[in-house]
Amino acid sequence: MKVEDIKNIAVIGSGTMGHGIAQIAATAGYNVTMVDVNNEILARAIEKIKWSLEKLAEKRRIKPEDVSLILSRIKTTTRLEDAAESADVAIEAIPEKIELKKELFARLDQLASKHAILATNTSSLSITEISRSTSRPDKIVGMHFFNPPQLMSLCEVIKGQFTSDETLSITAELAKKMGKTVIICKKDVRGFIVNRVLGAVFNEVFWTVYRKESTIEEVDASVKYKAGFPMGIFELADYVGLDVLANVAKVMYEAYGERMKPCPLATSLLNEGKLGQKTSQGFYDWSIGRPRIKFTLAGKYDINRVYTVAVNEAAWLIHEDVADPVDIDTGMKLGAGWPSGPCELGDRLGLDVVLGKLRDMYSKYGEEMYRPCPLLEDYVGKGRLGKKTGQGFYIYK
Ligand code: CAA
Ligand code: NAD
Repeated sequence: MKVEDIKNIAVIGSGTMGHGIAQIAATAGYNVTMVDVNNEILARAIEKIKWSLEKLAEKRRIKPEDVSLILSRIKTTTRLEDAAESADVAIEAIPEKIELKKELFARLDQLASKHAILATNTSSLSITEISRSTSRPDKIVGMHFFNPPQLMSLCEVIKGQFTSDETLSITAELAKKMGKTVIICKKDVRGFIVNRVLGAVFNEVFWTVYRKESTIEEVDASVKYKAGFPMGIFELADYVGLDVLANVAKVMYEAYGERMKPCPLATSLLNEGKLGQKTSQGFYDWSIGRPRIKFTLAGKYDINRVYTVAVNEAAWLIHEDVADPVDIDTGMKLGAGWPSGPCELGDRLGLDVVLGKLRDMYSKYGEEMYRPCPLLEDYVGKGRLGKKTGQGFYIYK
């Protein structure tokens, strides 16, 4: 199959991510069939798509007359077979549970035609393990969009152990046709590229608040107004979904152990079903719209702590040959809206400065999450300190 042969796309799951993926696929001209477990959920998803398209039309990002045209390309069904049988590509966006995904992929494999590529939007799970539940592991691939898919211009494409080069390149081409910049995750590691860095950052701020060293509002005001992140980190946690984050945190802990030790800060919210924006309550009250984060609290949390753990995680990704600095930086800028990527930041701050801060944090807390990556130690040992010495993650002429 060539990317030009793709006409029909099945999107399984119509929640936070599924409806957005269906929308961008239809906007790119594909016929989309969106699947969910009941018609009420599907009706809500269509409403959200309609709202989003109208918003984009209002901003002249699409033509007003295209709103109904794009909507007409999206069908909905509760019967997987209705979507799978005609699909050239299926994109799965159901909850982050490996058993659910394996069961779905086994069914998709039986229903879809032999040429179809089956992609997963998983945040963290093993593409290879999912592919083992099918008879076409070469056609199983990670296609990781970012929330909201309508506005975030990144797609991470992930190669599982058995994914063929052809599947990888068709998937990357498809993501580009859907308007995305693609970064390739070279290894099927848990959390891939962007969620590895975000995971380290979430852990740092969650534990900081859990230890009562800062408040949620102080962290969010500082990262938003001092670091220029588009959202506070707790605001982002609510936006992503505390259930999604908890599932991802579990996967990361299983893979990386104490280095990614999850924090119990959100446990009581989760138990009360307060999952963030989608349930109107989480760390913030979303029933009155986006949280208003007080500017006066900016600076009460040291944003260098976030930079430090982000740079360290970027170093781990390079050390493990998962990604290179350019892809990591592109990932964080386009996938999470950061003004600079962690490798650029590290080089600007000075890798010796970052390493010094990590060492201080590691000796203060004794937590593995602050243990410096050997690559960082190596760079600093060799005098690769960043911009000031002409070489750090990058070379400066
Ligand atoms: N479709 C169309 N328009 C939308 C929209 C959507 N889905 N969502 C928001 N908008 C509109 C808003 O209504 C608003 O329009 P108005 O100006 O008319 O009110 C406009 O976009 C801008 O929105 P906001 O004013 O609310 O806020 P903003 O300027 O901060 O932009 C944002 C919103 C693009 C989401 C930005 O806050 C951002 O980049 N946030 C970070 C998101 C992020 O990090 N995503 C990755 C999460 S991790 C992940 O996805 C991976 C995983 O596996 C968990
Ligand atoms: P969500 O809970 O908002 O939506 C999941 C949807 O799947 C629900 O509507 C649910 O009814 C439906 N569903 C469950 N089982 C199904 C089945 N067997 N068949 C069809 N539909 C089924 O979840 P989400 O946040 O959209 O996450 C979906 C996937 O995308 C997860 O793997 C998540 O890790 C990943 N992801 C999430 C985000 C995010 O910010 N929320 C970002 C990127 C990737």
